[in-house]
Amino acid sequence: MKVLVIGSGGREHALAWKLAQSERVQRVYVAPGNGGTASDPQFVTVPLHSPEALADFAQTEKIVLTVVGPEAPLAAGVVDLFRSRGLRIFGPTKAAAELESSKAYAKDFMQRHGIPTARSATFTDAAAAHAYVDAEVGATGAPIVVKADGLAAGKGVVVAMTPDEAHAAITDMLSANTLGVQHNAGGARVVVEEFMQGEEASFIVLCDGGNVVTLATSQDHKRIFEGDTGPNTGGMGAYSPAPVVTPNVHAKAMQEIIWPTVHGMAREGRPFTGFLYAGLMIDGQGQPRTVEFNCRLGDPEAEVILMRLKSDLFELLMHATDGTLDKVELQWDRRIALGVVMAAAGYPAAPRKGDAITALPAGTPELQVFHAGTTLQDGRLHTSGGRVLCVTALGDSVKLAQQRALEGVRQVQFDGAQWRNDIGHRAIKH
Ligand code: AMP
Ligand code: GLY
Repeated sequence: MKVLVIGSGGREHALAWKLAQSERVQRVYVAPGNGGTASDPQFVTVPLHSPEALADFAQTEKIVLTVVGPEAPLAAGVVDLFRSRGLRIFGPTKAAAELESSKAYAKDFMQRHGIPTARSATFTDAAAAHAYVDAEVGATGAPIVVKADGLAAGKGVVVAMTPDEAHAAITDMLSANTLGVQHNAGGARVVVEEFMQGEEASFIVLCDGGNVVTLATSQDHKRIFEGDTGPNTGGMGAYSPAPVVTPNVHAKAMQEIIWPTVHGMAREGRPFTGFLYAGLMIDGQGQPRTVEFNCRLGDPEAEVILMRLKSDLFELLMHATDGTLDKVELQWDRRIALGVVMAAAGYPAAPRKGDAITALPAGTPELQVFHAGTTLQDGRLHTSGGRVLCVTALGDSVKLAQQRALEGVRQVQFDGAQWRNDIGHRAIKH
């Protein structure tokens, strides 16, 4: 059987790596892939980007199953296009992907279905948004969160510590748009929302429209610097499982967030098929609330989750696309998986490209180097994006997994490499 993975990051490298382990998979294509998929003979990397070109390719090559990694092709309707041509693809339709691509849609949806989340309001009018901030902050004095409606590559959220910051964010998002947010129909909109205290975790499930299979929990580190400081990034590392998701929190997340979402989407005529990612904020009482929905696997969460998945991913995705996820029970490695992202010089503001990468450690059952922003030129690897590699290891404890991942990181050579030595710190007992 031939399978196709759409995307070019560490998540897609990990998906391809895991799919290649299936006995039923004969060839794994990755489009457009990266230097890691291009230099590994077990994959075929194809330079295709547009949904039409991908669907043509899947038809010609008789691809049995396609899986979509990132949000952009989903929001562009790649799943709708494949299905209209009778091609099997795992991911949400364009309409279902609005859970991620429109913060305003997601907030309204949560309100309609009683799903716990931060109190919020959505605005197209700047004066009304400014007035709302003044009223909210006047009442609580707390930080307030301003979110652009539309895909923003993880940059569309400002956690404002002062009213001035919130006002500046509103002005930028509704007019200048220096963050480069891809607006939804109707133009620029902002969501202003209550700041939630607590600890975050990534709660990801597979949906086939009606049934749900939960994946292992995980936690990522979004800030660039150690101690979770500095600007937000796409994620500087992750580990799985996340101990903050106790059995009690897990049950609440399913009952109060995941099931109402899956049932709500089906009732609204947008049945959700694909990976559904609920970003949770868990308060001191163990009550989870939804920070956001993503309609895909997280990155770098995928790398650590897939490292621990013992079940056959191809079989799983075939069930997911047949609507038979009720027949699936997943097997997990009981060890901890921990991934450390190596980022390029200048990341996240202005990542430098073109640095030569050498001395990559060989993959072992306990250590894998997943590529993201890398490219293969004349047989040599170079950096080509912000997050370059995710060095992922298994260990019997968070500390041991961290040590093993960092040993791998220290072998790799490229100029200006940045990484964090404290990934997993919230789960390490001192
Ligand atoms: P998002 O893109 O919605 O996940 O937001 C990015 C990050 O901003 C989240 O992972 C949180 O760390 C933070 N954040 C977003 N919304 C809130 C909120 N209402 N309260 C506290 N932190 C938030
Ligand atoms: N690591 C967070 C995300 O993929 O959105």
